[in-house]
Amino acid sequence: MIQNIKLGHYDGAEVSWDTENSPNLHIAAIGSSGSGKTVKIQEIMCYIAAQGETVVAINSHGVLNKDQILPALRVRYEKYLHDINIHGKGIGIRLFEPVTYPDGDTESIENAISADTDIFCRAFKMGVKQRAALRGAIGNAVSDGNYAKYGFNSIEDELKGSQDVVSMELAEKLHFLFANNVFTDGEDIFKKGKINVIHLNRLDVNTQEAVAEVILSHIWRLANADQFKENNIFVCIDECQNVGAGKNDPLPLLISEGRRMGVNLILATQMILQGTTNTLQQRITQCALTLFFKPASNRISLTAKMINSCNEAFWAPKLSKLQVGEFVAQGNLSIVGRSIAYPLIVDGYIGEKSSIDTTESRIVFPKMGVNGVITKEGV
Ligand SMILES: Nc1ncnc2c1ncn2[C@@H]1O[C@H](COP(=O)(O)OP(=O)(O)O)[C@@H](O)[C@H]1O
Ligand SMILES: [Mg+2]
Repeated sequence: MIQNIKLGHYDGAEVSWDTENSPNLHIAAIGSSGSGKTVKIQEIMCYIAAQGETVVAINSHGVLNKDQILPALRVRYEKYLHDINIHGKGIGIRLFEPVTYPDGDTESIENAISADTDIFCRAFKMGVKQRAALRGAIGNAVSDGNYAKYGFNSIEDELKGSQDVVSMELAEKLHFLFANNVFTDGEDIFKKGKINVIHLNRLDVNTQEAVAEVILSHIWRLANADQFKENNIFVCIDECQNVGAGKNDPLPLLISEGRRMGVNLILATQMILQGTTNTLQQRITQCALTLFFKPASNRISLTAKMINSCNEAFWAPKLSKLQVGEFVAQGNLSIVGRSIAYPLIVDGYIGEKSSIDTTESRIVFPKMGVNGVITKEGV
């Protein structure tokens, strides 16, 4: 069980997330671009890893690139960082291998192949014929021992070797996965006490999304087999609106079911759509801790209503005045050791405010902001 996580300050007093009293351990950071979501979730990941917990973050669309890390956070972040480059040793997620349940029972090989084949078919939007071809190729690769010997790439050999049109097309479709060794049984993505960042950003955008979905679906599959009950994990998805959001997609499923399986989520997104049919957007409100950063101007009223549906008039002006790194925290909070359950405006700024801001090479003067806290104001 993780201990309280520091979020920032309220009127000079430290505000933490009271994890012990929290109904789940999911975090959502919501707000416009540039409002401070990524920086804050990176700091939170550091606090979680510092407690010896496992964090898995998927870097697609370059949102978690190294050059994006706030200089004031870099040393701390890099201390826990475990970079996983798909062009290096590959992502070690042991596909098509039977899972062993905590009671010692092992899944059948047929089920393992079937489950992971389905994951691929969904992520890469395969039709019935391609699905049958893939299942056949994987089955052959596993049974003739080539999968064990040569890993994921043996599937390409099976597809190409079969010479039928569908298999050849499929080999073409998945070529970059084979060529880049993406799913070679490589680096452990669940290193304890680390922020395991899986970098997908060198793949084309559609492929990044598909690979992210394979990873999340695989985590969902492992979670269903109780693989994280003992060693919980925190899965971080920044800009999560880019990930599959239907009701059978892994992320919405993990929001609803993750807690009991030991999978906790750290999500950041710019979007919250009103009256949306997007399941992810609907379920994000189930995250026990929500950090509302400054919204886009056309979302202020909606965000204020999410904080308190009866008191939009109070929250709307507060939201519009939030500075970078400040947010309204909603959830089980702790301030000077006292538990509170109402929303607070938290100053989550990291580093010195009244100094030369080396990131932007300009002089920054202190300025009094919301709650009388000093906030950054560039000139
Ligand atoms: N808590 C913070 N402390 C200090 N600077 C911050 C903080 N949050 C954001 N910033 C500054 O604002 C920039 C944008 O923040 P970022 O977290 O990338 O926004 P978002 O993810 O919401 O688009 C950062 O690169 C950093 O310079
Ligand atoms: Mg961001």
